Amino acid sequence: MLLSLLKQIFSGAAPGPRSPDRPAGADARPALPPRSAAKLETLYNFFYPVFWGVSEPERFTAAVEDLSKSMSQGYHAADNFVTWGRNNSMLDDSAFVAAWESNIESTSDRAIVWRRYVLATSAFHCVQLAGDFVECGAYTGVGVKTVVDYLGGTEFPKQFWAYDIFEHDESMANHPMPELGPQLFDRVQRKFAGYPQVHIVKGLIPDSFRDQCPDRVAYLHIDLNQAPAEIAALDHMFDRVVPGGMVILDDYEWSGIYRPQKLAEDEWFDRRGYRVMPLPTGQGLIVKR
Ligand SMILES: C[S@@+](CC[C@H](N)C(=O)[O-])C[C@H]1O[C@@H](n2cnc3c(N)ncnc32)[C@H](O)[C@@H]1O
Repeated sequence: MLLSLLKQIFSGAAPGPRSPDRPAGADARPALPPRSAAKLETLYNFFYPVFWGVSEPERFTAAVEDLSKSMSQGYHAADNFVTWGRNNSMLDDSAFVAAWESNIESTSDRAIVWRRYVLATSAFHCVQLAGDFVECGAYTGVGVKTVVDYLGGTEFPKQFWAYDIFEHDESMANHPMPELGPQLFDRVQRKFAGYPQVHIVKGLIPDSFRDQCPDRVAYLHIDLNQAPAEIAALDHMFDRVVPGGMVILDDYEWSGIYRPQKLAEDEWFDRRGYRVMPLPTGQGLIVKR
């Protein structure tokens, strides 16, 4: 044992087992998508009229479209988020645009481009830390795959744990979603067939953490549409998040049926000396100390 340790030290190799998230040969960074240089004179607009919680969607959309004519360039109107005079950085990032567009399956997937870019840029940071990636509430797997494809696709250098029950029954506190049902788990598994580093775990959170759960987490995306399971996920996962790791709460800043999540999460984080950063996308962000 001592001899082998000395051999390792004098051969220059770091002692101890190689961590799966520290690839051979390297303190080097994992391959990261190159930055696409934004052009001073090019600003993209994004108008994709998916707006929730409006009483007359067609009239509302027509009004926003009309107003967009008065907006300066760089407007974004989708996902209940209407703003202008922005860089819309996500549309300047060609690696992201390729990952996002190739994974779109629904109008919502297209509309939530800014939310997806919050995930992608968080993942860009977290992929350079120790620890695995986790999404609680994987649904169709589009959010997971967008991040994975942005950061290398089949060469994605981390283990990614994607948890979901993939079905719905009336006893659950979250609202039903159109694709949930007995066929969804198989469909999502097939989607990741060429990605051995992506683990699809079917079961109810938090019970499903019992058998398969990483010790260290760099990236934690929680999107369960209900307070009790999200709090259970935080109870289980937050202590495993490494310093500098990021936690993204998909619904934190949405009101209406999502407001109980914010109330429960504020209380939970307050006890630990954190304050959630509310994002205009409706997400909430925490960076672990
Ligand atoms: C809004 S969807 C997730 C969308 C996905 N994160 C994305 O970015 O495309 C919410 C998911 O949470 C799942 N879910 C809710 N409560 C759960 C629980 N207790 N255990 C496992 N899955 C749950 C639902 O089955 C549903 O698929």
